[in-house]
Amino acid sequence: MSGAGERAAGARGVDSEREFAPCTRRALLEGLAVAGCLVPLHAFAQAVDPAAKSRPQIGDRLAFATGARAGQPLEASAVVLAAEPLSAWPMDATTGLLRDGSRLNQLRVLRLDPAALSPRTAPNAAEGVVAYATMCSHAGCDVTGWSAATRGLVCPCHGSEFSAEDAATVIRGPATQPLAMLPLRIENGELRVARGFTRKVGFTPA
Ligand code: FES
Repeated sequence: MSGAGERAAGARGVDSEREFAPCTRRALLEGLAVAGCLVPLHAFAQAVDPAAKSRPQIGDRLAFATGARAGQPLEASAVVLAAEPLSAWPMDATTGLLRDGSRLNQLRVLRLDPAALSPRTAPNAAEGVVAYATMCSHAGCDVTGWSAATRGLVCPCHGSEFSAEDAATVIRGPATQPLAMLPLRIENGELRVARGFTRKVGFTPA
């Protein structure tokens, strides 16, 4: 996945909330005719639909977050062994709503050799496919880098690296805590959320 694409995905999550939320609240109170207040439709929809901001729910599908298939369901077969992680969002399986209203929900999804997964990783993987929160446990950047040599998820901000094969434990700091893992299962070839995040997403004190 390109760096530009990943940055775009991150910007969609955080910046839309930070930049437009006050306008959106005013718009809700005063109608949409608020002078100087730009209210993009997707930001408005996120503001009024709590489901887009709620954490992943059991049974959610996963969907591509970037690229030509952004917003479409992510099949297990699309996650290729040893390829770079894909960026994804949870998606309500009933309504098709993307839970892209919060950066806390953005995921890195990749397929690893099932035999290489640690005992604490394997129960949360689906045929070798694993999903981790994108938000770094150090200071909240998007962990968009990848080291094929170490199967490490690398944060571009301060260089922390997390083991994809071992529940995102820290290979290299300054982070001291793992990334949150999202347990998966496969249903009719689709990736589904099996349980909630294994830990709090984002910064976590040691
Ligand atoms: Fe990721 Fe600092 S925010 S290493």
